[in-house]
Amino acid sequence: MGVRSFLKSTLKSIAGQPTAGKPAAGKPTVKVPTPPVAPPPPAAAMAIEQGLKTLPKEPDADGYVAVSPSRLIPEGGRNTFKVGDEPVAVFRVEGKVHVIGDECLHENGPLGEGNLKGHVVSCAYHNWRYDVRDGSCLTNPGTRVACFKVKEKDGFIWVGAKVHDSSRERGGEHDDGLKVRNIHER
Ligand code: FES
Repeated sequence: MGVRSFLKSTLKSIAGQPTAGKPAAGKPTVKVPTPPVAPPPPAAAMAIEQGLKTLPKEPDADGYVAVSPSRLIPEGGRNTFKVGDEPVAVFRVEGKVHVIGDECLHENGPLGEGNLKGHVVSCAYHNWRYDVRDGSCLTNPGTRVACFKVKEKDGFIWVGAKVHDSSRERGGEHDDGLKVRNIHER
């Protein structure tokens, strides 16, 4: 190191500045953390949000209510929506959309969250099974959940009037054999 460099370096350290290549003694370098970047919402959630924004708000001329963009219920898909106060379960099987009441006849489990195999949905709670084409209950024959008219138009699924009501009977045995009181038993 030459004399000039030596003097420069000495003056800097007296003034508290770091010498070239070394941090000043007692003055650790402070790293400013970069703010965390929020991860983008999952693509599926974004698609639903976008789709629901475009949902027609008013019933159509025939009184059908739009519940979902068609593309959000693909083949084998299902979901739960509300038409007025009525929870409905929507399914697509072999390209066709079916709409039945969402509340399982056992203990009101949401059928739109059940497991779909062909035309049969199994309630996610205790596996009671229903035919999505007409709401008939296969676990407790002779009973059924409501069934609704449905159509697809302008890229949306539209739910119409009820074809028939749900049975009033509720409760029964679990598939695991556990007995449950039938609340409408006389
Ligand atoms: S609530 Fe559906 S099977 Fe129990």
